[in-house]
Amino acid sequence: MGGGEHVPVLLEEAVAALAVRPDGTYVDATFGRGGHARAILAQLAPAGRLFAFDRDPAAAASASGIGDPRFVFRQCWFSQLADELAALGVVAVDGVLLDLGISSPQIDDPARGFSFRVDGPLDMRMDPARGESAAAFLARVPARELTEVIRDYGEERFAQSIARAIIAARAVAPVVGTRQLAAIVAQAIGARPRGDRGQDPATRTFQALRIFLNRELAELALILPRVVPMLATRGRLAVVSFHSLEDRIVKRFLASASQPFGGDPRLARLPIRTAALPPAPLTLVGRAIRPTEREVAANPRARSATLRIAERTPHPVPAGFGAAPGR
Ligand SMILES: C[S@@+](CC[C@H](N)C(=O)[O-])C[C@H]1O[C@@H](n2cnc3c(N)ncnc32)[C@H](O)[C@@H]1O
Repeated sequence: MGGGEHVPVLLEEAVAALAVRPDGTYVDATFGRGGHARAILAQLAPAGRLFAFDRDPAAAASASGIGDPRFVFRQCWFSQLADELAALGVVAVDGVLLDLGISSPQIDDPARGFSFRVDGPLDMRMDPARGESAAAFLARVPARELTEVIRDYGEERFAQSIARAIIAARAVAPVVGTRQLAAIVAQAIGARPRGDRGQDPATRTFQALRIFLNRELAELALILPRVVPMLATRGRLAVVSFHSLEDRIVKRFLASASQPFGGDPRLARLPIRTAALPPAPLTLVGRAIRPTEREVAANPRARSATLRIAERTPHPVPAGFGAAPGR
C-alpha cells in the first residue's frame, strides 16, 4: 500500500482562486499527489511555470512522474519556500496554493504510522528524515506535556486521562504500534459519552500527535507572512485548511494583513489617521468557501475544509512584516 489515490478537496475552487494567468508563475506548496498541480498545469500556456513543494519523499517520488518542462519540484518544508525559490532564481510569483494537512496516501500507508485503523509502526512523520517519531516522543514525554499536546492540538476533552493511560502503558511495554495506541486511548476514554458519535475514540489523539510532531501549526504561522513579499501585484494566495486550529491561524493572518496598518496592532492603537498608515499588503477575495454537501458526501475528508483567498495589493510590504511568526 502507500501509492494510493488522493482525492483533492475543493479542487476547482482552489484553482479558480488562483485566477491562473496562462503565462504566470505559480507555487503549489503542498504537492501531495499532484491533483491541484495537474489542474494548474492544465491552465498554463507553454510560458507558464509551476514550482511545487512537499516534504514527503513519497510526494517527491510521485512528482518525478510529471514530465513537464513547465514544472519543477523540490522536496522541502514549506517554511523554507522563499529560500528554495530564490535558489531557483524566482523573484516573484503570481499565486501560491497551500492545501494543508495530510494526504490520503499518507494515512492509507500503514508503514507511515498515521492510521489507527490498520496496524503499523507509530511514526507519523511526513518527512521521516527529520524530527522525532511518535513512538520516540511517547517514550520520553512527561505526562503534563503529553496532556497539553493532546488537549491543544486534538481539542480532546479526555486529554489528561489519555496521557495518564499512555504513561502507565509505557511502563509495561513501549508504545510502538498504531493499533496499540488506539487501544490504549479507547480504554482510557471507556464508555464516556463523546458527543461526536461515529468518530473513533483515537481520532483526536492521533490528530494531536500528528500536528505536534510535524510542527504543522508552526509551519503555517511561518509560511503565511513569508508568502506575501513573494507575490507579484495581484498575485493570489489560496489556503485550504482542514480543522479549526489551522483555519483560525489563516483567518487571523489574512484579517491583519488586509488592514491598512499591515497588521501591526501597535500602530492601530496610535492616534494616527488611517490614511497616514502603511496601506495593507493584501486584500481579501470573497468570503471563506466551504465544500458543497455533494463533495462532502463523495469525500469525507472535505467535511471541515475551508478555502480562504487573498490578493496582493500594489503597496509595499510594511517593514518588519512577517518578522514575528504567528502574527
Ligand atoms: C492535503 S495534502 C495535498 C494534496 C494535494 N493538493 C493533491 O492534490 O494531491 C498535503 C500535503 O502537504 C504536505 N505538507 C504538509 N505540511 C507541509 C510542510 N510544512 N512542508 C511541506 N509539505 C507539507 C504533506 O506531506 C502532504 O503531502
